[in-house]
Amino acid sequence: MRRTTTLKAIAGLAATSLLLAACGGGGDGGSETTAAGGGDGGGEASGGKAMRLALNQTEEHPSYIALDNWGTALDEATGGNWSIDVFPNETLGAQAEALQLVSDGSVDMAVVSSPQLENLNPDFKAFEMPGVFDNIDEQLAALNDPEINSELFASLEASQKITVLGVFTQGQRSVYTSFGEVQTPADLAGKKIRVQETDKWVAIATALGGSATPMAFGELYTGLQAGVVDAAENNEVSYWTQKHYEVAPYYSYTSHIIGADYVIINTDVLNSMSEEDKAAFLEGFADASAEHAGLWEASTQDAIDQATAGGATFYEIDNTPFKEALAAIVPDLLDNENQQALYDALVAAAG
Ligand code: GCU
Repeated sequence: MRRTTTLKAIAGLAATSLLLAACGGGGDGGSETTAAGGGDGGGEASGGKAMRLALNQTEEHPSYIALDNWGTALDEATGGNWSIDVFPNETLGAQAEALQLVSDGSVDMAVVSSPQLENLNPDFKAFEMPGVFDNIDEQLAALNDPEINSELFASLEASQKITVLGVFTQGQRSVYTSFGEVQTPADLAGKKIRVQETDKWVAIATALGGSATPMAFGELYTGLQAGVVDAAENNEVSYWTQKHYEVAPYYSYTSHIIGADYVIINTDVLNSMSEEDKAAFLEGFADASAEHAGLWEASTQDAIDQATAGGATFYEIDNTPFKEALAAIVPDLLDNENQQALYDALVAAAG
């Protein structure tokens, strides 16, 4: 209960800072032709713009629930000028494509995992490293702190027209396999483990003991089923909602990293909102962030229960060998002073 309240407070605080920055920071939103069909926030329901948001999760996932509710609230708050249609299950494309589509303006918004942004600006790596945070509260407080993130989150605006609104947690990620429990890196020797598509994740999987196989999220179920990969790693929520437990029923708590998802919007679309609508949009994001954080814990427990009922086994293990192997590669993963400085700021914030 208390934990949920803290999470909500943190998420709300972070989004409020963004709101203040946007309103007070000389933003020029509304000066261009609005994407809402030329309206300027006049409050009419007709001619409003339904922004399309690309998501690779199912409708049961907290991200879908929080974003869908935000869309409905935004419609009301802007008198029908703006709303959000969430397209789940990769229907607008896998994350790498969705990122490109947001950049070129054909899709308005998306949720993308950290590695996707790392491919555009490697400094994002620092925001998702093993061993920094003990829990989600710490992660959200640090990653959503504007003192730490504001430069990084704006870094893709000029070159890619991508504005980062904020972070949704991915929770702790752990390893699951089709062949049995994993207790030490040696148990993954010679096994193919699916990772997200970056060098950082290849290095992480290698340190975990496996043979890294980069693959898009949506291909993983069949990859596990067909034996293209023997293992994967993710949080319990995705493990359940993607039905991976059906083909990889052994989930071992390696708890090797707390992952970060980013909610992004095309910069021109954001700037085409009137000041009033933009304020409502950012307030709505604060609420969505709080709702997501609040839903996470219960969704995780529900996922464990459902996957267990479906035949999965969750193994509590001593994860020290995994932690040590990952700590050893962190210095190699940070490849410039900027990344090191961001990493150090997060470590300091985590306390
Ligand atoms: C999590 C995360 C997704 C990501 C996925 C993956 O489910 O929320 O954004 O795509 O992991 O491993 O690819």
